[in-house]
Amino acid sequence: MWTLLRTSTLRLPISVIIMVSASVNGSSTDKRQRKLELPAEANASLSVPVDTKAVFDCPSILLTSVVVTTWQIILRDKLSCTRAYRRDRNETKEGNCTDERITWASRPDENLALQIDPVATTHDGFYMCQMVTHFGNFHRGYHLQVLVPPEVTLFQGKNGIAVCRAAAGKPAAQISWNPEGDCVTEQEHWANGTVTVQSTCRWEDRPVSVSCSVSHVTGNKSLSLELSLGLIIRGFPASSLLVILYVKFALFLVILVIVAFIYFQRINGCRARK
Ligand SMILES: *[C@@H]1O[C@H](CO)[C@@H](O)[C@H](O)[C@H]1NC(C)=O
Ligand SMILES: *[C@@H]1O[C@H](CO)[C@@H](O)[C@H](O)[C@H]1NC(C)=O
Ligand SMILES: *[C@@H]1O[C@H](CO)[C@@H](O)[C@H](O)[C@H]1NC(C)=O
Ligand SMILES: *[C@@H]1O[C@H](CO)[C@@H](O)[C@H](O)[C@H]1NC(C)=O
Ligand SMILES: *[C@@H]1O[C@H](CO)[C@@H](O)[C@H](O)[C@H]1NC(C)=O
Repeated sequence: MWTLLRTSTLRLPISVIIMVSASVNGSSTDKRQRKLELPAEANASLSVPVDTKAVFDCPSILLTSVVVTTWQIILRDKLSCTRAYRRDRNETKEGNCTDERITWASRPDENLALQIDPVATTHDGFYMCQMVTHFGNFHRGYHLQVLVPPEVTLFQGKNGIAVCRAAAGKPAAQISWNPEGDCVTEQEHWANGTVTVQSTCRWEDRPVSVSCSVSHVTGNKSLSLELSLGLIIRGFPASSLLVILYVKFALFLVILVIVAFIYFQRINGCRARK
C-alpha cells in the first residue's frame, strides 16, 4: 500500500438496502444512479442473485481529486484481499486477490467501480472502497449477501403423506400448505451457505388436492398435487403407469384368447378330416 488511510471523521450510521435486479447485460445505469444518491460515508446491504453480475461503486468524488483508491474485500470465510489504484502513477496493485471474478469494472483511470462477474455463494462478505483525496478520506462499504433460488418439488410419499422440498436456497425458504396439515419441517445446511427445507405433511380427513407455497426473496412459488386416487384406494398408487399396465394386460388376454380359439379350430378341423 502506498498511503496509510486515516480513519474518517464522519461515520453516519446509515445502511441502505438495495436489491439489484438479475441483469447481466446492460440496464445497470438505473442501479448505478440509485447508488450514487447514497451519502459518501455509509454501508449498504446488497442482495444479489447467484450467477449474475454485481457492481460496487465508490463514493462519487471528482476523479481528478482522488490520489489512491483501495478496495478492501473481506469474504465470509475471513479471506481478505485488496485492489488499489494510484492515480498519479496510473498504477494498479493487487494484494491476495486471486479470484478472477472480482475485478475493476472497467479502466480504473476512468471508473473506480469493482465488479464480481459472475457472483457465487463464496462472495458473501464486506466490500469497501476507501479513497484518499485532496479533500480528505472517503469510504463506502457494501455487505453482500448472495441469494440462491431454491429448487422446489412436491411429491406424494407412502400412506397419503405429501412432501414439499425447497432445495439449496439461500437464505432458507419458508414452506406453507393449503389446507394446513399435520406437518414436520426439517432443514439441512450445506457448506456453501444454502439450506434445504423439507416439509412432510399428513391430513386427518384426506383432501382431494393440496398445495405447497414456498416463499423466498428471489420469488415465491406454489405447486399443487392431486391426492385423490392414491389416497382413497389404500395401497394403490394413483398413476397413469398403472392404467397403461392394465391396458397392456387386457390386450395380452385378448390375443391369448384369439390364439387359443384358432388353435382349437385347427384341432377340430383335423379331427373332422380324420
Ligand atoms: C461499515 O461496516 C464495517 C464492517 O462491518 C464497520 O467496521 C464500519 O464501522 C461500518 N461503517 C458504518 C459507517 O456503519
Ligand atoms: C493476505 O492473506 C493473508 C492470509 O490469508 C492475510 O493475513 C493478509 O492480511 C492478506 N493481505 C492483504 C493485503 O489483504
Ligand atoms: C493508464 O494506463 C493504461 C494502461 O495501463 C492506459 O491505457 C491509460 O491510457 C492510462 N491512463 C492515463 C490517464 O494515463
Ligand atoms: C450448494 O451445495 C449443495 C449441496 O452440496 C448443492 O446441491 C447446491 O447446488 C450448491 N449451490 C450452489 C449455488 O453452489
Ligand atoms: C412472497 O410471499 C410472502 C409471504 O408469503 C409475501 O410477504 C411476499 O410479498 C411474497 N413476495 C412476492 C414477490 O410475491
